[in-house]
Amino acid sequence: MNEKVIIIGGTSGIGEEIVRQLAKEGASIAVFGRNRTALTSLHSDFPTQVTTFEHDVTSSFNADSLLESAAAELGGLDTFIYCSGVLHASDPDDFDFAKDSEMIRVNLLGAIQWLDAVATRMASVKKGSILVIGSVAGDRPRKSMPGYGASKAGLHFFAEGLRYKLWDRGVTVSNVKPGPVSTPMTASLPMPMKISAEDAARRILKLRHKSGNHYLLLSQRIIFGIMKIVPEAIMKRISF
Ligand SMILES: NC(=O)c1ccc[n+]([C@@H]2O[C@H](COP(=O)([O-])OP(=O)(O)OC[C@H]3O[C@@H](n4cnc5c(N)ncnc54)[C@H](OP(=O)(O)O)[C@@H]3O)[C@@H](O)[C@H]2O)c1
Repeated sequence: MNEKVIIIGGTSGIGEEIVRQLAKEGASIAVFGRNRTALTSLHSDFPTQVTTFEHDVTSSFNADSLLESAAAELGGLDTFIYCSGVLHASDPDDFDFAKDSEMIRVNLLGAIQWLDAVATRMASVKKGSILVIGSVAGDRPRKSMPGYGASKAGLHFFAEGLRYKLWDRGVTVSNVKPGPVSTPMTASLPMPMKISAEDAARRILKLRHKSGNHYLLLSQRIIFGIMKIVPEAIMKRISF
Protein backbone atom coordinates (compact mmCIF):
# COMPACT_ATOMS: atom_id res chain seq x y z
CA MET A 1 0.00 0.00 0.00
CA ASN A 2 1.20 3.52 -0.79
CA GLU A 3 0.53 5.00 2.67
CA LYS A 4 -0.40 8.67 2.65
CA VAL A 5 0.97 10.46 5.68
CA ILE A 6 0.87 14.00 7.05
CA ILE A 7 3.46 14.87 9.69
CA ILE A 8 3.62 18.11 11.63
CA GLY A 9 7.20 18.66 12.83
CA GLY A 10 9.05 16.45 10.35
CA THR A 11 12.05 18.72 9.89
CA SER A 12 14.44 17.63 12.66
CA GLY A 13 15.34 14.81 15.04
CA ILE A 14 12.71 12.11 15.47
CA GLY A 15 10.27 13.63 12.97
CA GLU A 16 12.86 13.90 10.20
CA GLU A 17 13.85 10.26 10.78
CA ILE A 18 10.18 9.25 10.62
CA VAL A 19 9.88 11.00 7.25
CA ARG A 20 13.04 9.37 5.86
CA GLN A 21 12.03 5.88 7.03
CA LEU A 22 8.48 6.25 5.70
CA ALA A 23 9.82 7.47 2.35
CA LYS A 24 12.08 4.41 2.14
CA GLU A 25 8.99 2.24 2.78
CA GLY A 26 7.35 3.87 -0.26
CA ALA A 27 4.94 6.24 1.52
CA SER A 28 3.86 9.65 0.25
CA ILE A 29 4.38 12.27 2.93
CA ALA A 30 3.33 15.88 3.47
CA VAL A 31 5.85 17.43 5.85
CA PHE A 32 5.05 20.55 7.90
CA GLY A 33 7.56 22.68 9.81
CA ARG A 34 9.22 26.08 9.93
CA ASN A 35 12.74 25.18 8.83
CA ARG A 36 12.85 25.93 5.09
CA THR A 37 16.31 24.38 4.61
CA ALA A 38 15.22 21.09 6.15
CA LEU A 39 12.00 21.07 4.11
CA THR A 40 13.95 21.68 0.89
CA SER A 41 16.45 18.96 1.71
CA LEU A 42 13.72 16.38 2.39
CA HIS A 43 11.96 17.25 -0.85
CA SER A 44 15.16 17.02 -2.87
CA ASP A 45 16.04 13.65 -1.30
CA PHE A 46 12.57 12.23 -2.09
CA PRO A 47 11.17 14.47 -4.86
CA THR A 48 8.29 12.22 -5.89
CA GLN A 49 7.23 11.30 -2.37
CA VAL A 50 7.71 14.30 -0.10
CA THR A 51 5.63 17.47 -0.36
CA THR A 52 6.45 20.29 2.03
CA PHE A 53 4.52 23.03 3.80
CA GLU A 54 6.22 25.84 5.68
CA HIS A 55 4.20 26.11 8.87
CA ASP A 56 4.44 27.50 12.40
CA VAL A 57 1.91 25.88 14.75
CA THR A 58 1.92 28.97 16.97
CA SER A 59 0.74 31.18 14.09
CA SER A 60 -2.89 31.84 13.28
CA PHE A 61 -3.94 29.15 10.80
CA ASN A 62 -6.91 27.24 9.47
CA ALA A 63 -6.17 23.56 10.14
CA ASP A 64 -9.16 22.34 8.10
CA SER A 65 -8.02 24.06 4.92
CA LEU A 66 -4.32 23.17 5.40
CA LEU A 67 -5.36 19.57 6.00
CA GLU A 68 -7.47 19.50 2.84
CA SER A 69 -4.62 21.03 0.76
CA ALA A 70 -2.14 18.46 2.03
CA ALA A 71 -4.57 15.54 1.58
CA ALA A 72 -5.32 16.74 -1.97
CA GLU A 73 -1.57 16.78 -2.77
CA LEU A 74 -1.23 13.25 -1.38
CA GLY A 75 -4.42 11.93 -3.00
CA GLY A 76 -5.88 11.00 0.42
CA LEU A 77 -4.84 10.58 4.03
CA ASP A 78 -4.16 7.35 5.92
CA THR A 79 -1.96 8.46 8.81
CA PHE A 80 -1.52 11.73 10.69
CA ILE A 81 1.49 12.29 12.96
CA TYR A 82 1.93 15.22 15.36
CA CYS A 83 5.63 15.41 16.26
CA SER A 84 6.25 19.16 16.76
CA GLY A 85 7.63 19.94 20.17
CA VAL A 86 9.85 22.28 22.16
CA LEU A 87 11.57 21.64 25.45
CA HIS A 88 12.90 24.41 27.69
CA ALA A 89 14.41 22.71 30.72
CA SER A 90 14.35 25.07 33.69
CA ASP A 91 17.02 25.96 36.24
CA PRO A 92 16.08 26.07 39.94
CA ASP A 93 15.56 29.87 39.85
CA ASP A 94 13.94 29.97 36.44
CA PHE A 95 10.17 30.60 36.45
CA ASP A 96 9.54 31.79 32.91
CA PHE A 97 6.05 32.26 31.50
CA ALA A 98 7.32 32.95 27.95
CA LYS A 99 9.08 29.58 27.82
CA ASP A 100 6.25 27.72 29.53
CA SER A 101 3.62 29.22 27.26
CA GLU A 102 5.64 28.38 24.13
CA MET A 103 5.74 24.73 25.21
CA ILE A 104 1.99 24.71 25.82
CA ARG A 105 1.33 26.40 22.46
CA VAL A 106 3.54 24.09 20.40
CA ASN A 107 3.26 20.78 22.26
CA LEU A 108 -0.40 20.97 23.27
CA LEU A 109 -2.49 23.72 21.64
CA GLY A 110 -0.93 23.23 18.20
CA ALA A 111 -1.59 19.51 18.52
CA ILE A 112 -5.20 20.03 19.58
CA GLN A 113 -5.86 22.43 16.71
CA TRP A 114 -4.58 19.87 14.19
CA LEU A 115 -6.15 16.85 15.90
CA ASP A 116 -9.63 18.37 15.90
CA ALA A 117 -9.41 18.91 12.15
CA VAL A 118 -7.95 15.45 11.51
CA ALA A 119 -10.50 13.72 13.76
CA THR A 120 -13.35 15.46 11.93
CA ARG A 121 -12.07 14.24 8.56
CA MET A 122 -11.20 10.69 9.66
CA ALA A 123 -14.45 10.21 11.63
CA SER A 124 -16.46 11.20 8.55
CA VAL A 125 -14.74 8.61 6.33
CA LYS A 126 -14.52 6.09 9.21
CA LYS A 127 -10.86 5.25 8.81
CA GLY A 128 -7.38 6.49 9.58
CA SER A 129 -4.54 6.40 12.08
CA ILE A 130 -3.52 9.23 14.39
CA LEU A 131 -0.15 9.18 16.16
CA VAL A 132 1.05 11.76 18.67
CA ILE A 133 4.50 11.94 20.20
CA GLY A 134 4.03 12.34 23.93
CA SER A 135 6.83 11.86 26.46
CA VAL A 136 7.67 10.00 29.63
CA ALA A 137 7.93 13.53 31.05
CA GLY A 138 4.13 13.71 30.86
CA ASP A 139 3.76 10.77 33.26
CA ARG A 140 5.03 12.51 36.40
CA PRO A 141 5.99 16.15 37.05
CA ARG A 142 9.68 16.92 37.55
CA LYS A 143 11.33 20.02 38.93
CA SER A 144 13.53 20.42 35.84
CA MET A 145 10.64 20.69 33.40
CA PRO A 146 7.22 21.50 34.89
CA GLY A 147 6.03 23.34 31.76
CA TYR A 148 7.15 20.60 29.37
CA GLY A 149 5.61 17.92 31.59
CA ALA A 150 2.33 19.83 31.74
CA SER A 151 2.22 20.15 27.95
CA LYS A 152 2.85 16.44 27.43
CA ALA A 153 0.44 15.34 30.20
CA GLY A 154 -2.21 17.48 28.48
CA LEU A 155 -1.38 15.88 25.15
CA HIS A 156 -1.65 12.39 26.68
CA PHE A 157 -5.09 13.21 28.10
CA PHE A 158 -6.32 14.75 24.86
CA ALA A 159 -5.12 11.81 22.75
CA GLU A 160 -6.69 9.29 25.12
CA GLY A 161 -10.00 11.16 25.12
CA LEU A 162 -9.92 11.26 21.34
CA ARG A 163 -9.29 7.51 21.31
CA TYR A 164 -12.42 6.94 23.40
CA LYS A 165 -14.36 9.22 21.05
CA LEU A 166 -13.16 7.55 17.85
CA TRP A 167 -12.83 3.85 18.79
CA ASP A 168 -16.09 2.82 17.10
CA ARG A 169 -15.41 4.81 13.91
CA GLY A 170 -12.46 2.90 12.54
CA VAL A 171 -9.88 5.49 13.64
CA THR A 172 -6.89 4.48 15.80
CA VAL A 173 -5.21 6.95 18.16
CA SER A 174 -1.74 6.07 19.33
CA ASN A 175 0.22 8.05 21.93
CA VAL A 176 3.89 7.12 21.99
CA LYS A 177 5.91 8.23 25.03
CA PRO A 178 9.63 8.16 24.22
CA GLY A 179 12.28 8.39 26.89
CA PRO A 180 15.57 10.18 26.12
CA VAL A 181 16.45 10.34 22.41
CA SER A 182 19.56 11.96 20.86
CA THR A 183 18.23 14.91 18.86
CA PRO A 184 18.88 18.67 18.68
CA MET A 185 16.26 19.05 21.45
CA THR A 186 18.31 17.09 23.98
CA ALA A 187 21.85 17.83 22.70
CA SER A 188 22.69 20.06 25.65
CA LEU A 189 20.83 18.02 28.27
CA PRO A 190 22.71 15.49 30.40
CA MET A 191 20.22 12.65 29.97
CA PRO A 192 21.29 9.04 30.57
CA MET A 193 20.46 6.15 28.23
CA LYS A 194 19.60 8.17 25.13
CA ILE A 195 18.68 6.08 22.10
CA SER A 196 19.30 7.29 18.54
CA ALA A 197 16.66 9.15 16.55
CA GLU A 198 16.81 6.36 13.94
CA ASP A 199 16.05 3.71 16.57
CA ALA A 200 13.27 5.85 18.12
CA ALA A 201 11.65 6.47 14.72
CA ARG A 202 11.76 2.76 13.85
CA ARG A 203 10.07 1.82 17.13
CA ILE A 204 7.53 4.64 16.85
CA LEU A 205 6.53 3.69 13.30
CA LYS A 206 5.77 0.12 14.41
CA LEU A 207 3.15 1.57 16.76
CA ARG A 208 1.50 4.00 14.38
CA HIS A 209 -1.62 1.95 13.75
CA LYS A 210 -1.91 0.53 17.30
CA SER A 211 -4.40 2.39 19.47
CA GLY A 212 -3.11 2.95 23.00
CA ASN A 213 -0.42 4.58 25.12
CA HIS A 214 2.99 3.13 24.35
CA TYR A 215 6.51 3.23 25.75
CA LEU A 216 9.35 2.47 23.35
CA LEU A 217 11.36 0.18 25.64
CA LEU A 218 10.41 -2.33 28.32
CA SER A 219 13.00 -0.76 30.64
CA GLN A 220 11.24 2.60 30.27
CA ARG A 221 7.85 1.06 31.01
CA ILE A 222 9.32 -0.31 34.26
CA ILE A 223 11.31 2.79 35.29
CA PHE A 224 8.54 5.27 34.53
CA GLY A 225 5.92 2.96 35.99
CA ILE A 226 7.86 3.08 39.27
CA MET A 227 8.28 6.86 38.97
CA LYS A 228 4.51 7.25 38.98
CA ILE A 229 4.36 5.90 42.53
CA VAL A 230 7.49 7.50 43.99
CA PRO A 231 6.35 9.58 47.02
CA GLU A 232 6.29 13.36 46.62
CA ALA A 233 8.86 13.77 49.41
CA ILE A 234 11.39 11.94 47.23
CA MET A 235 10.40 13.72 44.01
CA LYS A 236 11.19 17.05 45.72
CA ARG A 237 14.77 15.88 46.32
CA ILE A 238 15.46 14.31 42.90
CA SER A 239 17.18 16.86 40.68
CA PHE A 240 16.12 15.74 37.19
N1 LIG B 1 14.38 13.93 22.14
C1 LIG B 1 13.81 13.35 23.18
O1 LIG B 1 14.49 12.86 24.11
C2 LIG B 1 12.30 13.26 23.26
C3 LIG B 1 11.75 12.46 24.27
C4 LIG B 1 10.36 12.37 24.37
C5 LIG B 1 9.57 13.04 23.47
N2 LIG B 1 10.12 13.84 22.50
C6 LIG B 1 9.23 14.54 21.59
O2 LIG B 1 9.52 14.15 20.26
C7 LIG B 1 9.13 15.21 19.37
C8 LIG B 1 10.30 15.51 18.45
O3 LIG B 1 11.37 16.02 19.25
P1 LIG B 1 12.90 15.94 18.80
O4 LIG B 1 13.63 15.42 19.96
O5 LIG B 1 12.99 15.28 17.50
O6 LIG B 1 13.24 17.50 18.73
P2 LIG B 1 13.78 18.43 17.57
O7 LIG B 1 14.87 17.78 16.81
O8 LIG B 1 14.06 19.74 18.25
O9 LIG B 1 12.51 18.60 16.61
C9 LIG B 1 11.41 19.37 16.99
C10 LIG B 1 10.43 19.46 15.83
O10 LIG B 1 9.36 20.31 16.28
C11 LIG B 1 9.11 21.27 15.26
N3 LIG B 1 8.63 22.53 15.84
C12 LIG B 1 9.11 23.20 16.91
N4 LIG B 1 8.46 24.36 17.06
C13 LIG B 1 7.53 24.41 16.05
C14 LIG B 1 6.57 25.36 15.65
N5 LIG B 1 6.40 26.51 16.31
N6 LIG B 1 5.79 25.08 14.57
C15 LIG B 1 5.95 23.93 13.89
N7 LIG B 1 6.85 22.98 14.22
C16 LIG B 1 7.63 23.24 15.28
C17 LIG B 1 10.49 21.50 14.61
O11 LIG B 1 10.30 21.99 13.29
P3 LIG B 1 10.75 23.46 12.78
O12 LIG B 1 11.88 23.93 13.61
O13 LIG B 1 11.04 23.24 11.34
O14 LIG B 1 9.53 24.29 12.96
C18 LIG B 1 11.05 20.08 14.59
O15 LIG B 1 10.61 19.38 13.44
C19 LIG B 1 8.72 16.38 20.26
O16 LIG B 1 7.32 16.40 20.39
C20 LIG B 1 9.36 16.04 21.60
O17 LIG B 1 8.69 16.65 22.66
C21 LIG B 1 11.48 13.94 22.37
